[in-house]
Amino acid sequence: MIIQSAQFIISSGSLKTCPEPVLHEFAFTGRSNVGKSSLINMLTGRKGLAMVSGRPGKTKTVNHFLINENWYLTDLPGYGFAKVSKSEKTRFDKLLEEYISKRENLTCLFILLDARLEPQKIDLAFTMWLGENGVPFALIFTKVDKLSSSELNKNMAKYKKELLKTWNVLPPMFLTSSVTTAGRDDVLNYLQQIMDDVPIESILENLSGK
Ligand code: GTP
Ligand code: MG
Repeated sequence: MIIQSAQFIISSGSLKTCPEPVLHEFAFTGRSNVGKSSLINMLTGRKGLAMVSGRPGKTKTVNHFLINENWYLTDLPGYGFAKVSKSEKTRFDKLLEEYISKRENLTCLFILLDARLEPQKIDLAFTMWLGENGVPFALIFTKVDKLSSSELNKNMAKYKKELLKTWNVLPPMFLTSSVTTAGRDDVLNYLQQIMDDVPIESILENLSGK
């Protein structure tokens, strides 16, 4: 897929102000600082599109980007955050949950995982919660530039083993780096494939009970 245009639309503190749910939407979440905003910039080839920060908890709202005037890429607040006040934590916890359980046009949710870390309880619990809520998801491992290919293979094997304790089939998995742009085509082609296979009308029909 070629990215012809990428445009920031709106930053929302609640579902009410999100754009009308009439286009395919792909959203990124994951633990704070995992590289969600950086990945959006890498995929779109627009460096300053999503705000990147070394400080965890930067993205606290739902941020919609319109791509090729045809689908949304959405930057969600992170989970497993540190260094935010208690009241803020409650607010974006709730926002993430509200978004995931109610956004009708959410086509696939991508959980971002730091490729350097061993499987974390919070991420595995999150996949189970998505399963219970019937939300289609895929995994994107980030920051693969920070480890050797043998370290990466070793960690992926651990992840697969851990996931197969709960899931019969492994979810789609992608290896990426926002620094080297590794995995860019894999992720973009996957998005294109889903949009080709599943028309937006059928998503909206199936989920009209939400
Ligand atoms: P929050 O919005 O705070 O939840 O963070 P985020 O998940 O959006 O992470 P963000 O993109 O802001 O990146 C966090 C830090 O990781 C920044 O310092 C980035 O430069 C760095 N980073 C992100 N992706 C990569 C990557 O692929 N490789 C390397 N080496 N660093 C990365
Ligand atoms: Mg962010």
